[in-house]
Amino acid sequence: MLPPDRLSKIKIFPIQPTRTISCCMSILLLKVISAIIIVFNTVIMAWRFSGSSQHELVENLINAGIIRKEKVVKALKEVDRKHYCPRDPYVDSPQYIGYGATISAPSIHAAAMEHLYDYLNRDNSKILDVGCGSGYLSVVMSRFNPSAKVYGIDCIPQLVDLANNNVKQYDNHLLETKRLQFKIGDGWNGFESDGPFDAIHVGAAANKIPLSLINQLKVNGRMLIPIGGEGEMQKLMLVDKIKDGITEDCVRIQRLMNVYYVPLVKKTD
Ligand SMILES: C[S@@+](CC[C@H](N)C(=O)[O-])C[C@H]1O[C@@H](n2cnc3c(N)ncnc32)[C@H](O)[C@@H]1O
Repeated sequence: MLPPDRLSKIKIFPIQPTRTISCCMSILLLKVISAIIIVFNTVIMAWRFSGSSQHELVENLINAGIIRKEKVVKALKEVDRKHYCPRDPYVDSPQYIGYGATISAPSIHAAAMEHLYDYLNRDNSKILDVGCGSGYLSVVMSRFNPSAKVYGIDCIPQLVDLANNNVKQYDNHLLETKRLQFKIGDGWNGFESDGPFDAIHVGAAANKIPLSLINQLKVNGRMLIPIGGEGEMQKLMLVDKIKDGITEDCVRIQRLMNVYYVPLVKKTD
């Protein structure tokens, strides 16, 4: 206890309700503005690149400069999104695929292929697709490089079944030859038994880069991952492993663009 003479000298600052309310209002306003920007971007993007067939959709993405490399064009044209996406497959926006999940927008898949190109293209490349959902991007990656082994993981068992069923119908040879495998797994832990990987694609946003994924990336390997909280503007990041280990100086990070992904859920979420 302070002595009474010192107690009397302590100034008591009253809480100012108006200041607290205006601070809350500003945060709310910022959140609303960021939500409007996300919705506006989604609508504009969907309108700009959509087509009436897989061919037209890919051509529009080429004209927009999102797809540049011929091998990416070929792989994306070979895998028709209508087999993996029940509604509006040629609209450039995410679509609901059940179990609370979406298939990502075609322009996002195309950008992922372009940014990971050299790493997907290596002889006998090992590729991890975290949050494989419908299985679409894993199939594109597998068709892109026949010498690669692609592992698609998702934490929702029904989605792993969905991916397997989709691929069984349209690309079964990829499963039969084990060029492509889907497994239940938590993206925060990666898939150590099948690593290390030349390329890791993460299809859901993490609030920080999962250390297990850095660990499972080969030296000179690359990870593409959205970083940020749910409902916030997130950043798509390229993480290049420059030396062995899991500390920050083992990777070089490039921030690419603002994106909006569903969260990479934690088991405790
Ligand atoms: C936007 S979807 C992308 C789906 C897929 N790339 C596609 O285009 O069909 C995100 C996926 O991440 C999965 N996911 C979320 N958190 C995960 C976690 N911790 N581990 C594995 N998968 C996760 C979800 O179940 C969902 O299928």
